[in-house]
Amino acid sequence: MILRRVVDLRRTVAAWRREGATVGVVPTMGALHEGHLSLVAAARAQCDRVIVTIFVNPAQFNNPEDLAKYPRDEARDIALLDGVAVFLPEVDEVYPPGFSSTVHVKGLSDRLEGAHRPGHFDGMATVVTKLFGMTQADVAFFGEKDWQQLQIVRRMVADLNLPIRIVGCPTSREADGLAMSSRNRRLNASARDAAQTIHRAMTQAATAVRAGDMAAVDRIPETLKAAGFRSVDYAELADAETLAPVQDLSRPARILVAATVDGVRLIDNIAV
Ligand code: PAF
Repeated sequence: MILRRVVDLRRTVAAWRREGATVGVVPTMGALHEGHLSLVAAARAQCDRVIVTIFVNPAQFNNPEDLAKYPRDEARDIALLDGVAVFLPEVDEVYPPGFSSTVHVKGLSDRLEGAHRPGHFDGMATVVTKLFGMTQADVAFFGEKDWQQLQIVRRMVADLNLPIRIVGCPTSREADGLAMSSRNRRLNASARDAAQTIHRAMTQAATAVRAGDMAAVDRIPETLKAAGFRSVDYAELADAETLAPVQDLSRPARILVAATVDGVRLIDNIAV
């Protein structure tokens, strides 16, 4: 079932609710890969009805070129989504004339990705709040690949008493460790080869940190640059929940990395 209008989505969800069904939502920007499909599988396992939203949200792109180049493949996406409802709104349906509201999660939105992509998390939090309101789902599924996004969504749901449960799902990886991402499609052969270094460097650093070598994370940028990355926005050891920088492992910690190879900006993270 393909739905493009909020009224039709709400009518569909209302009918499901009358049957007593539980509703899960998987928010996406399309160009689906196995990582998305693992979220859909988790949603289908936990909920009676599933909605996959596909919306390339202009409000979360701080760079117009990145928005223009973002891969779009609606026909293929729909073909991959058998047995679930697909919500595919146009930009005007989500942001009608006069739209004036923003959801801003202080602090958490300002570090790491937020520091390098001004406005990105406000755009994300605003559209996710809207998608929760539009779908009225009971449960929402997000990938751990976007770890900071997941923490911001959890904070926002708690702060605003949004009646939805958030489920984080493990990152799907290629055989060489590269985290699956729609942006991987833009990597040429040599950049694709270099890209696997992110996961290798993070894994090595995590082992070193566990052995007490906290500075190992600071060496990730030189490893990435030696492998062909042009720039590294950050490679940090952070508290898994607050994302504040950490110096010890008294609480769960995460290594988070953002780096660019051949003009494609990749992000990844792992638990320490
Ligand atoms: O992770 C994404 O693809 C997007 O940030 C999301 C959650 C669909 C909001 O546009």
